[in-house]
Order: sequence, then structure tokens, then C-alpha cells
Amino acid sequence: MISNAAVGHVGRFAEIELSRMVSAIDINVRATLLLTHHFCQGMIRRHRCGIVLFSSSSAYQGTPFVANYSATKAYNLCLGEALWFELFKHGVDALAFAPGATNTPSLRTSKHGLKEGDKGLNMHLPEEVALAALSSLGRSGSARPGVLATLETFFISKVLSRKVAVRIAGRIIGKGFS
Ligand SMILES: NC(=O)c1ccc[n+]([C@@H]2O[C@H](COP(=O)([O-])OP(=O)(O)OC[C@H]3O[C@@H](n4cnc5c(N)ncnc54)[C@H](OP(=O)(O)O)[C@@H]3O)[C@@H](O)[C@H]2O)c1
Repeated sequence: MISNAAVGHVGRFAEIELSRMVSAIDINVRATLLLTHHFCQGMIRRHRCGIVLFSSSSAYQGTPFVANYSATKAYNLCLGEALWFELFKHGVDALAFAPGATNTPSLRTSKHGLKEGDKGLNMHLPEEVALAALSSLGRSGSARPGVLATLETFFISKVLSRKVAVRIAGRIIGKGFS
């Protein structure tokens, strides 16, 4: 089971319509919980199968200007990691997978000039992310696509203080907002 559907809103938290953020909780968190709980019971009985929950690089620290989205993605990260430990003895693999920028329709609507198929050091294609997620399943509770993204997370979570990590994220995402 792959829980991939998600919505997020970019902007100043206080100015984003509350109902849009509540619906992000419904899709990103509530639906993930309901689907995971429903399917993991049959998986445990069968002693096989796998669960992939899509998280995000924004889950590793509070991320200003996508505050609600990053909080929902932290939920996916924690749920996937916890279930990896709980379920492996039942033969079920669980994984929280955290892409960074990925050239999907939603990113193209928010990044002016980005065309389908464009990629770079810091921009993956959806098929690369999908392949990386499936290859990581069963290896650990959480993973990121590629060496650079993995190093980025190591640096953010093991080298920087959370305060500094939040500040950097805020400066990057917040261009044009603050
Ligand atoms: N793209 C990135 O840069 C990036 C970075 C980090 C993490 N991620 C994560 O990767 C995953 C995929 O993101 P994406 O960029 O591919 O997003 P996307 O282009 O916006 O696609 C989102 C998908 O979710 C579906 N969806 C949205 N609301 C739904 C609902 N209420 N019920 C059922 N399906 C719904 C959409 O279906 P329809 O097409 O039918 O609307 C669409 O297929 C998400 O979990 C996202 O948080 C993406």
C-alpha cells in the first residue's frame, strides 16, 4: 500500500484559509491513518506485503511558509518509522519515504518556468523517486531519494541545531513572503 496523495499550501500561516489546511490534515494525515490501519491488519494475517507513506524533506524540521504541510509530513515520517519497527516481525515492511523537490504537476504549478522532465542535482523526476522508494522498502524505517538528499538530512538533523535548520528552511521557502 502506498499512501502518496497529499495537498499543501504555501504562504503565511495566518493568511491561508483554515478550511484548506483542515482538508490537508484530512488527506495527508487522516486518510493515511485510516488506510494504513485498514490494510495492515490483512498484511499481518498474510505475513507479507509492504506500506510506503510519502513524507517530505520538510518533515525533518518545522518549515515556515508550508507550516501545516510540513507538520502533516512529520506525521507520515513518524508513523512510517514506528510501523517499520512494529510490523517487521509480522513479515510486513513499512517505510516513510521523504522526497525533496520532484518535478510533478503540483511543483510545476508553483515553480514558474519548470517544464515536465526538467531535472537537476536538487530536482528529481517522479519515476526516480518511485524507484528509490520501492528499493528502500524493507531496508529501514525511513529513506530519502539518493545520496545528496540523504546527506542533506544527515546535516540538517545531526549537525545543525533545530533552530538553525528552521531558520534556513524559512529563508529558502520564505523568499517573497517575509
Ligand atoms: N513534488 C514534490 O516536490 C514533493 C516533495 C516532497 C514530497 N512530496 C510528496 O510526494 C507525494 C506526491 O506529490 P506530488 O508532487 O506528486 O503531488 P501532486 O502532483 O499534487 O499529486 C497529488 C496526487 O494526490 C491526489 N490527491 C489529492 N487529493 C486527493 C484526494 N482528496 N483524494 C484522492 N487523491 C487525491 C491527486 O489526484 P488527482 O490528480 O486526481 O487530483 C494527485 O494524484 C505527496 O505525498 C507529497 O507530499 C512531493
